Amino acid sequence: MIAAVQEGLRLTDRSIYMASDTLIVYYSWSGNSEKLAKNLNEAIFSSDIFKIRTKRKYSTSFFVAAFQAGREKRKKTRPEIIETVSGKKLSKYERIILIYPIWDGSCPMAVLTFLESIKTEGLDIFPISTSSSVTLGSSLRDIRGSAPEANIAEGLAVPGKVADTQKAVNTVFHYLGLR
Ligand SMILES: Cc1cc2nc3c(=O)[nH]c(=O)nc-3n(C[C@H](O)[C@H](O)[C@H](O)COP(=O)(O)O)c2cc1C
Repeated sequence: MIAAVQEGLRLTDRSIYMASDTLIVYYSWSGNSEKLAKNLNEAIFSSDIFKIRTKRKYSTSFFVAAFQAGREKRKKTRPEIIETVSGKKLSKYERIILIYPIWDGSCPMAVLTFLESIKTEGLDIFPISTSSSVTLGSSLRDIRGSAPEANIAEGLAVPGKVADTQKAVNTVFHYLGLR
C-alpha cells in the first residue's frame, strides 16, 4: 500500500542528493524499521540519522512488550527518551523522514515523546511505518497531534517482512517523489 504524497511536499532529485537538510529519525524494537532507516541513509547521500531510544527498555518478549505498548497507548504515556535533537541542530533540517513500527495500531508512544520534544514549526515530516498488517493505523493522526505545526505527508506503510530489501528503499524513493 502506497499512500500518495501530499502536494507540495515532494522532494526534487536535486534536494535529495544534496540531502544535508534531511534528517532520518527512527524507532525500532526488533530491527525492521532500523534496517529500512539505515538502508535509506546509505541511499540518500549525506542525510543524518537519529535513533529514538527510551530510558526504560521494553521487554524482549513480544507478548510482554505488546502489553506494555497497549498500556502506554491507553494511558497516552510519553515514555522518557535518552536524548533528542537540539534546536540548534534541528534548524539545519527542512525535513524529517520518520520511520517506526506500528504498535497496537499506532506509532510507539516514544515517537510522540520525540516529536513533542522538538520544535516542528515549518518542518516537513514524511511518516513511514513498518508493520505486519501493512498499515499506518492511527499513527498519522497521533503524529499530527504531537507536531501540529509541521507539514505532515500522508504516510507510507511498508511491510515489516520486507523492510530490509532494496525494493523497500525503492518504494520509499517513490513515496518521496524521487521515482
Ligand atoms: C509491541 C508490538 C505491537 C505491535 N502491534 C502491531 C499492530 O498493532 N499492527 C501490526 O500490523 N503490527 C504490529 N506489530 C508488528 C510490528 O509493527 C512489525 O513487526 C514491525 O515491522 C516491527 O518493527 P521493528 O522491527 O522496527 O520494531 C507489533 C509489534 C510489537 C513488538
